Amino acid sequence: MAEPDRPFSFRGRSMAARDGETLLAALSRDRLPLLRRSLQYHRPQGPFCGIGHCAGCLVRVNGRPNVRACRHELGPGDVISTENAWPSPDWDLLGAIGILAPRGVDSLHGLRRPAFATPLYQRLVRRLAGTGEPPTEEAARAIAAPALERAAEVVIVGGGDAGRAVATALAARGVRPLVLERTLRSTPIVGADFVPATTAVFLPPPSEAGDPRFTLLAFREPGQGMRVTARSVVLATGGYDSSLLFRGNDRPGVLSADAALSLTSDSRRPPFRRAVLVGGGARAAEVLERCGNDVEAVVAPGEIRPAVVGAANELAIPLYPRSLLLGVRGRRRVRSVQLKSRGGGASTTIGCDAVILAHRRVPHAQLFFQAGASMEWRSDPGAYAPKVRPDGVTSVPGLYAAGSVAGLAARDLAGHAQGIADAIGGNGSSNAPTFAPLLDERPNELLGYYRELLRTRGHGRWTACACVDVLVSEVEKAVRSGYRGIEVIKRYTSLGTGICQGRYCLPDALLVLSLLEDRPPFEVGYITQRPPVVPTPLAALASLPSPSAEVVP
Ligand code: FES
Repeated sequence: MAEPDRPFSFRGRSMAARDGETLLAALSRDRLPLLRRSLQYHRPQGPFCGIGHCAGCLVRVNGRPNVRACRHELGPGDVISTENAWPSPDWDLLGAIGILAPRGVDSLHGLRRPAFATPLYQRLVRRLAGTGEPPTEEAARAIAAPALERAAEVVIVGGGDAGRAVATALAARGVRPLVLERTLRSTPIVGADFVPATTAVFLPPPSEAGDPRFTLLAFREPGQGMRVTARSVVLATGGYDSSLLFRGNDRPGVLSADAALSLTSDSRRPPFRRAVLVGGGARAAEVLERCGNDVEAVVAPGEIRPAVVGAANELAIPLYPRSLLLGVRGRRRVRSVQLKSRGGGASTTIGCDAVILAHRRVPHAQLFFQAGASMEWRSDPGAYAPKVRPDGVTSVPGLYAAGSVAGLAARDLAGHAQGIADAIGGNGSSNAPTFAPLLDERPNELLGYYRELLRTRGHGRWTACACVDVLVSEVEKAVRSGYRGIEVIKRYTSLGTGICQGRYCLPDALLVLSLLEDRPPFEVGYITQRPPVVPTPLAALASLPSPSAEVVP
């Protein structure tokens, strides 16, 4: 691997990155960095997801606020500073809020008395709220770019294995699809127009009258707006590794399997030496294969599958199946985890420098909700996914689902892609397909896990939503006060309204609410998926011409 030779400055310190390296990778050579403080209680936070969806790696780059370190490829001479912490994320004076109010600040009913002080409170709260400071003029100008307008027969969102397979199958039929891919660098696809570093953020259903085309909004890093019109849309958005509720679940050092795998791509050395791996299935096996030498123990909420047992035994890694993960210790970084066997066993402490969550992968289904597709609850993994036929057809004419987002196994990706290409070729019917109503009523295996965990003393102080600092106790209080359903709980507590748009808190919140409300998770509902589904630079949205403008094919 090449030596780092791209100079940049991080909080006044001179550092160097390799060509094409992200800021997060450059900052994570030896260990995972502490990059910011949380919005309300100023808890230490670090990178969690590694794929541009959480709030853990936001920094200021060359005067531009809230840049995701895991999505920023370093340019020579970049100047990076941190946000939301004074004087620094390591020592932040406002961290005292969490110490002075260990049960949380009642932001709904607090700060109201005496009434004459309300304007003062409001000024104070406005000063403390939000993240980052406005960009400098120079920084705003630097990302300004004319918007892109594209028209295509078929647009494919996601250039991973499934998206590529569909693009190849379409190209073989003489259709040249437009493929939008989020990763910053990836190989083009023969026979397709390939646009990397591009995130789709809004997909409304096509208008019912007249024009059956979709209009999709996207942005290209760092801030170029893009509008695509297409007759057919294939969503191959895949899935992501979700979070888990325990004490300190947003402490620097707790990271998703997505992050662990992306930070160790290209044979890079992991930013941890003694990680506790959480999960006993295929994803845990993948992490073990990549960085098993730096794994200290494997802990699973349920059983551990034979493939993981075999790999762990080879590396002499101890296994802890059917364990409750109670919390992590360490003020500014993970130093150890505390476990307990399920069913009331003894508790154990394991020294570690990271916790990798690989226990549950949920679909990136936000755009299906926006497009008005019929969705169904899947007990495994405990999440909503689009109702889809084996040929990728969804309930919305012209909208298709490919790969794992549809819950379709990748065993025969080529055959699956052919089916979608055939369905698109025969598209033109405006009749939506009918689906048998299917609600998977098997209990999710994590439901039993959370039932036990919620009996643990002190769980109320755990963080239910890391983006906006909502505690588990606030959710419990809302339910005790008579609020029911995830949408109402969201409005009451703000859970799910932060930068990750609910991706990391909702999967667990649905299960916990199902227990607190004593009804199946799918009856708890889901929150409205408003645009944009990924925070988008205003410059990108503002640059888009009015929808009536002519589109260049
Ligand atoms: S680690 Fe960068 S957004 Fe989550």
